[in-house]
Formats: sequence, structure tokens, C-alpha cells
Amino acid sequence: MEKVIKILLIEDNAGDVRLILEMLKEIDIPMESLLVLSNLKEAFEIDVPGTDISLVLLDLTLPDSDGVETVSEVRKKFPNSVIVILTGMSDEHIALSALREGAQDYLIKGESTSKELDKVIRFSTERQSIITRLNKSNAELIATKQELRELASHLQKIREEERTTISREIHDELGQLLTGLKMDVSWIRKKIDPQEEEIVNKFKDVNQMIDDTVKSVRKIAYELRPGILDDLGLNAALEWQSMEFQKRSGIRCSFYSEIDDAILNKEIVTNIFRIYQETLTNVIRHSEATRVTTGLFSDGNSYILNIHDNGKGFDQADVNTKHTLGLVGMRERSTMISGSLKIESIPMKGTTVVLKVPVVK
Ligand SMILES: Nc1ncnc2c1ncn2[C@@H]1O[C@H](COP(=O)(O)OP(=O)(O)OP(=O)(O)O)[C@@H](O)[C@H]1O
Ligand SMILES: [Mg+2]
Repeated sequence: MEKVIKILLIEDNAGDVRLILEMLKEIDIPMESLLVLSNLKEAFEIDVPGTDISLVLLDLTLPDSDGVETVSEVRKKFPNSVIVILTGMSDEHIALSALREGAQDYLIKGESTSKELDKVIRFSTERQSIITRLNKSNAELIATKQELRELASHLQKIREEERTTISREIHDELGQLLTGLKMDVSWIRKKIDPQEEEIVNKFKDVNQMIDDTVKSVRKIAYELRPGILDDLGLNAALEWQSMEFQKRSGIRCSFYSEIDDAILNKEIVTNIFRIYQETLTNVIRHSEATRVTTGLFSDGNSYILNIHDNGKGFDQADVNTKHTLGLVGMRERSTMISGSLKIESIPMKGTTVVLKVPVVK
């Protein structure tokens, strides 16, 4: 038997205490692992961590408590311990109701043998070690989950920074080169004899190609990270995104904002914007909606982003089996800014996404 078990014996009758001690001696339980108390008050005051006590042997008729309520009190104080009731022969029915209050077993004083006590102690030790292992795994699981969350958030931040840099480089470097090219082309164009129709037309084509490339470069740079987000703020970026969405999808989209976006930090701005983008992408891909209404406002405690489409809606229970990442990413982003994300979808009525981000006061 391990020495670490801690047994609490709560019994006020000296004769009964002696009886238990003898039984414990018989089954070689070291006395230093046992603490004898004579009332409930002492039990609540002891300075031993509740997790160390594997077994509480409890008499139900103590000077300061009586009956089965004692069990639920003791259960609260020692949530992980096995509670075994010590009872007289005459009140076995009380012992049975004590089992319903959270005790694991009962021993009848003067009747039960040391073998039975031994069994109870072994059971409690085993249970204690299972609980300890379970608690440890649980703590590890929580820590791992937290680490993964931090890693995801870190990766998102790096990704956003990279997108910003690449976007700027594409915009500035390629943009300048193309502008240079366009100037050179128009310089050469002036040197060409206007009679050389074939060459003049070819130059028109080249000029057109340069213009198209400038447009593409702008588009790519903007899609990576809209400059408007950093230059003009969230309201302007959401407005712009809504217009782009409408142009691309043909779905009418209106956006309004009631908040002053200048007070929002960059992380909040980026994550709200990315959630908005993913939501609108979902609307295009899945909703079959004809109208989207979106808004950004505040109720004093939170900033609220509301996006409603009048599409076909979906059953959220089906989504969990699909293993898609869009909604998961949106939730993750909302957690990163201490927000909460709610999706309400009614088949044939549409979908509403509500993101709430606490106002920092
Ligand atoms: N506005 C919407 N209207 C109707 N169904 C939607 C809407 N938004 C999401 N859904 C449903 O929820 C599912 C999960 O969306 P989610 O964004 O996670 O994945 P996805 O868009 O299919 O793929 P991805 O991982 O590329 O985003 C979609 O497949 C779609 O069935
Ligand atoms: Mg999606």
C-alpha cells in the first residue's frame, strides 16, 4: 500500500475511533496517513489540500451536524475524495440515502470487517490516481489548445504583415516600372512615322496591354491588403469591399457605419475586415441571395458588425461534418480580438453573421 494516501476519519465517538484504528492497523495502513477529527468544523478548517485526501470516513451524527446533508457539505469540501459513511446497524437506510447525496459506500460499525475497509481504501486510492491523471491530461490539453491558439494568432499576424509588404512592393515596384514603360512606349510612338499603320496599331495594342497590366497589378496588390485599410480606415475599407462585392456578384450590397473607426487598433481593424471578406465570399459561393445588408455600430459595450443575406440559409449541424475552414477561421479571428461570433441561419430566410468586439474603455 502506498504511503501517500490521506484518510480523514470524522468520528466523535472514541470507541468507534479505536475500532477503526485497530482495523487500519490490521491492514497495515500507516498511521501518519490518517487524520482523526471529531467534528465537521475541524474538517472544513484543515490545511491539507482537498486533492490529497483520497478517503473520508464519515460518521453522520456529529456534534455539529446531523444526517445526510453532512455528506453534500463534505462532498463540496473534498470533491475528488471517496466518501464512506460509518453507520450503526439501525440506520442503514440513512446510509442508503447518503449514497444518493454523493457518498460512494458505507461501513456498518462493529459489523464490517477490516477486509471491507481495505477494499474501500484500495478503491479510493485507485480513484484518486485516476482523477490525478485525468486532471493532468486535462491541464495539458488546455495548455496545448492555448498554445495552438497563440500559434495560429501569431501566424495570422505574420501572414498579414507579409501580405502588406508584398502588396506594397507589387504596387510600388511594378507600378513604377510600368509607368516608366508606358512613358518610353509613348516616346517611341511619337518617333514613328504615322504612315506606318501596322506599327502604329501594334503600338496601340502594346499601350493597351500596359494599361491592362497596371490594372491587374493594382488589383492583385489590393486583394493582398487593401491600402485603403491602412490609409483611410475600416469604414472606408468595408465600404469599398461592399462595392467590389456588388460589382463582382451582382448582389445588391449596402453598408453603413455608425462608429468612429479612428479609435480601433490595427489588429481589430484587420480581423474585422478579414471576417467581412470571408462572410461576403460565403454569400457569393453558397447563399443564392439577392441582397446583403451590412452595418457596423456600437451598443456602448461592443462594436457590432452585422451582415445579413436574404439567401437560402443553411443548417449549421451539417457544417461540422464538412471540415471546411472558412467559418472556423472567422471564429478564430474573433477570439483573437476577444470577440464573439454568432451565426444565425434560417433555411429559405437567409443568414446573419454577428461579430461583437468589446469596446476598450
Ligand atoms: N451565407 C451563407 N449562405 C448559405 N450557406 C452558407 C453561408 N455561409 C456558409 N454557408 C454554408 O456553410 C458552409 C461552411 O462555410 P465555410 O466558409 O466554413 O466553408 P466553405 O466556404 O465551404 O469553404 P472554405 O473553407 O473555402 O471557406 C458552407 O459550405 C455552406 O454550406
Ligand atoms: Mg467559406
